[in-house]
Amino acid sequence: MKIAVLPGDGIGQEIIPQAVKALKAAGGHLPLDLNQGEIGWTSVVASGEALPQSTIDLIDRSDAILFGAIGGPEYEDWKRKNPRGSPLLRLRQDMKLFANYRPITLFPELINASPIKAELIQGLDLLIIRELNGDIYFGEPRGMVSDTPGQRESINTMRYTEAQIRQVAHAGFKAARRRRKKLCSVDKANVLETMLLWRDVVTEVGREYPDVELTHLFVDAAAMELIRRPTHFDVIVTGNMFGDILSDEAAMLTGSLGMLPSASIGTGAKGLFEPIHGSAPDIAGKDIANPLAAILSAALMLRYGFELEEEAQRIEGAVRQVLARGLRTGDIMEKGATRVGTQEMGEAVAKAIAAG
Ligand code: NAD
Ligand code: IPM
Ligand code: MN
Repeated sequence: MKIAVLPGDGIGQEIIPQAVKALKAAGGHLPLDLNQGEIGWTSVVASGEALPQSTIDLIDRSDAILFGAIGGPEYEDWKRKNPRGSPLLRLRQDMKLFANYRPITLFPELINASPIKAELIQGLDLLIIRELNGDIYFGEPRGMVSDTPGQRESINTMRYTEAQIRQVAHAGFKAARRRRKKLCSVDKANVLETMLLWRDVVTEVGREYPDVELTHLFVDAAAMELIRRPTHFDVIVTGNMFGDILSDEAAMLTGSLGMLPSASIGTGAKGLFEPIHGSAPDIAGKDIANPLAAILSAALMLRYGFELEEEAQRIEGAVRQVLARGLRTGDIMEKGATRVGTQEMGEAVAKAIAAG
């Protein structure tokens, strides 16, 4: 079980060590082989490259990747002068990780931590499947059309092939089949041809899954429905950009962006597991970030990367226990709870795993 551990930047450096503790506690009996690599700004500072060859080699030798986050103001600045593309996007594309699973589940212990009324989120359990290899993220042409002052112009292209849509649609229907058999496809077919194709292809694929109820929503309405009645959703399948945006919105239903893990799965066996949040430069280095999204990503790695359901559940059960004891990082803090830091939270989860 070779695992490439890539903490990256900002709070990535703080949360990933907590996920590693959880992995070691849950998988002490397994042949875990964890190897750390550099990526992002941390790597630029160390070697001048955002995705150095040593990290590519490490990934090649690994069975799964545990990823923190990359980015921050210095990095965004550097990237403008070194436009070689985001290393994370490159990994997603090179590893053909076309489906990004973002489970939005509410720990009942956090029902009052969400800014949304308790009665609207009670029992919340939905899954967003975000297409990860296409859309405006990768479409050509892209870039600066003109840099003449006063007439500056740049372009990005929203682009999808039928094959890309079909692939992620199958992932959506299959996931719905294992759950409550409802799939909602989110697009913007009323305006964009790319999204008209999206709707047509998802509908065609749906004929192979007559047991799954397929509905369609335009993305603006979906954003609203996610707040109005989020428990009506089972599985949402959507494009790369809409999935990015809707999942940050949906995270708040669970209390915080710091709670949401994700699994990126492709045609190969090797998956990438990462919290959905970023490097959070505003809180980095203060030991206050919530490590639970990273810890829960490690659980997803055990479940989907290694088919170790029992070990995955041990991590998730321990998270629940720690929340039940009232331990909270600042982002999910509520009255009467005990405020803990990143490391303290990580240690409490690891201890609960070892004890359970
Ligand atoms: P962000 O997700 O880093 O932060 C958004 C807000 O959520 C901030 O207020 C932050 O403090 C808070 N937050 C995020 N994670 C948290 C956690 N675990 N615990 C508590 N609070 C948390 O998004 P941003 O500020 O828009 O972006 C910062 C940088 O991160 C940018 O460079 C962006 O490109 C990058 N980014 C990277 C990834 C990734 O590597 N997968 C994902 C998103 C953003
Ligand atoms: C995410 C992030 C990334 C994305 C960025 C950092 C490239 O927001 O993983 O959700 O937009 O996919
Ligand atoms: Mn995002």
